[in-house]
Amino acid sequence: MEKREQLYEGKAKKVFATDDPEKVIVSYKDDATAFNGLKKGTIVGKGAINNRMTNYLMGRLEEKGVPTHFVEELSDRETLVKKVSIVPLEVIVRNISAGSFAKRYGVEEGIVFAQPTIEFSYKCDELNDPLLNEYHALALKLATREEIALIKKYAFDVNDFLKGAMKEIGIDLVDFKLEFGKLPDGTIVLADEISPDTCRLWDERTHDKLDKDRFRRDLGGAEEAYEEVMRRLMGEE
Ligand code: TMP
Ligand code: ASP
Repeated sequence: MEKREQLYEGKAKKVFATDDPEKVIVSYKDDATAFNGLKKGTIVGKGAINNRMTNYLMGRLEEKGVPTHFVEELSDRETLVKKVSIVPLEVIVRNISAGSFAKRYGVEEGIVFAQPTIEFSYKCDELNDPLLNEYHALALKLATREEIALIKKYAFDVNDFLKGAMKEIGIDLVDFKLEFGKLPDGTIVLADEISPDTCRLWDERTHDKLDKDRFRRDLGGAEEAYEEVMRRLMGEE
């Protein structure tokens, strides 16, 4: 596999072409941003942790019947994935109130829901990722009705699996964000990442935040939190 030119640089990852037109290499950075890039910083070592954690979780999700873009981990920070066109929806599943949910509806953080919620944002930095519903997504032709139905099914499947996997290591899965991609033949697959950047993870006993909120809210100890999740999940740092 030959690494070729950089195709794209996002806030947390870069994407490179390869000699295979159907595959690209994602390279995870230590850069951290919040509030649509207004806050910038570094979480040392997070690129490697997010890369390895995402690949491990996507591997287990494949076994559960959720197709993903994952192909092969190439190094600490780099992974070969199927080239997809990203469906411009941020798919957010919540089990416990926190973040923008708590703010929008004027409730405290930490309310455990009887059943998970799902919401979509239009993935568009210029517009600040506005919240939208399925009808809006259809009107804007961001996805078809069938694609949205499948995305919702996969998102709840990911929640069922991830909630259980986190519980096993003493972590409550509060909420998370997923992105999906489309293969050339139209197949919908899970893409992007599943990491402490994209999930809220609270220690079930102490309720310590083990995720990017440590950076967003200037709590300190982000590096240690990411390492702790990695250690519990994969027995390493
Ligand atoms: P929110 O409460 O700010 O809407 O975030 C919900 C979840 O989505 C939380 O786990 C963090 C994650 N998230 C991202 O991964 N990227 C984003 O741009 C935003 C706003 C949230
Ligand atoms: N990743 C987003 C940003 O850079 C937001 C976030 O995760 O809080 O602004």
